[in-house]
Amino acid sequence: MLTQLDELHTQSLAQLKQAETTAVLETWYKETLGRKGSIYLMTRQIGSLSAAERPLFGQRINKVKKELEAAYENRLAELKASELQAKMEASAIDVTLPGRKQRQGRLHIATQTLRQIYAIWADMGFQVYRSRDVETDEYNFELLNIPQHHPARDMWDTFHTTTPGVILRTHTSPGQIHAMREYYPEPIRVILPGMCYRYEQVTARSELQFHQVEGLAVGKNITMTDLKGTLTDFARRMFGAQRQVRFRANYFPFTEPSAEMDVECIICDGDGCNVCKYTGWVEILGCGMVHPNVLRNGGYDPAIYSGFAFGMGPERIAMLKYRIDDIRYFWGNDLRFLEQF
Ligand code: FA5
Repeated sequence: MLTQLDELHTQSLAQLKQAETTAVLETWYKETLGRKGSIYLMTRQIGSLSAAERPLFGQRINKVKKELEAAYENRLAELKASELQAKMEASAIDVTLPGRKQRQGRLHIATQTLRQIYAIWADMGFQVYRSRDVETDEYNFELLNIPQHHPARDMWDTFHTTTPGVILRTHTSPGQIHAMREYYPEPIRVILPGMCYRYEQVTARSELQFHQVEGLAVGKNITMTDLKGTLTDFARRMFGAQRQVRFRANYFPFTEPSAEMDVECIICDGDGCNVCKYTGWVEILGCGMVHPNVLRNGGYDPAIYSGFAFGMGPERIAMLKYRIDDIRYFWGNDLRFLEQF
């Protein structure tokens, strides 16, 4: 019996060593140390021994049982550790792999240009004044000295809404009236940026929707000289100190006198090219002294107050600055274009 017990001991230890998973280990436990396991079965045979042999066998079998229990605990700990290790290795993150680069967004070229324009005018004391995109005929035309059926309306092909008298603004100039009515009788120095809409043929230079930045200064003793000096300074800050500008007489119903400002062509430095149509100059804005009727409509008495106004197109300015030859790129959403800026 003792020899049998020794054999069982050695065999069980060997099986324990071979168990490679916790599941196999559990089966081993059941079959060896469990309620109907081999050790238990051997204990039951004690009755067939003589009274003298029993105590020795009892002691031995208890010792074997304890040793097997301890060996089982050790093996279980070993297997659990290696299983955990394997699990960690399988789901490991390789921190040495280069990360995936985040695509970085950027401001649209029109927004960048607008912000440059805001910064220049902010330096000269002009605040941003926001006005609405959907306007009434009254603000977009009538209060700007363009009555119904006036031929000057042909200058602005208009998108009408289904509500009579409500339109999409064709220029930012109606904001002049809003600003004057809000600020009267204070002096005013504002720029009015925003989208404008015109029912026009889309070409390389003209879009259906485009930005304008309007400017308005109202106060006492504001003269044409202030207008010319301020706009010349703007052009130099925007296009470089050496850049020449010129003013040409023009007509706008809401300014008198009216002018357009040209900047020396950036592409050919004034020598003449296809962009400037071989004149050496490119028009960037319309401007003039605020018409007395418009001042009056804003609440300011033209006998006491005067003012200047201008309206420029930031997309056209960006085209000139970055040599973009087609305005349709701006809203075409082609990343190959947008990512260049
Ligand atoms: C006006 O809209 C006047 N309200 C400007 C003004 C304001 C004059 C205050 C005097 C006093 P004009 O239609 O020329 O003027 O437009 C002004 C600028 O807007 C143009 O110089 C051009 O840069 C831009 N612009 C006009 N139409 C388009 C278009 N279809 N696409 C892109 N830019 C345009």
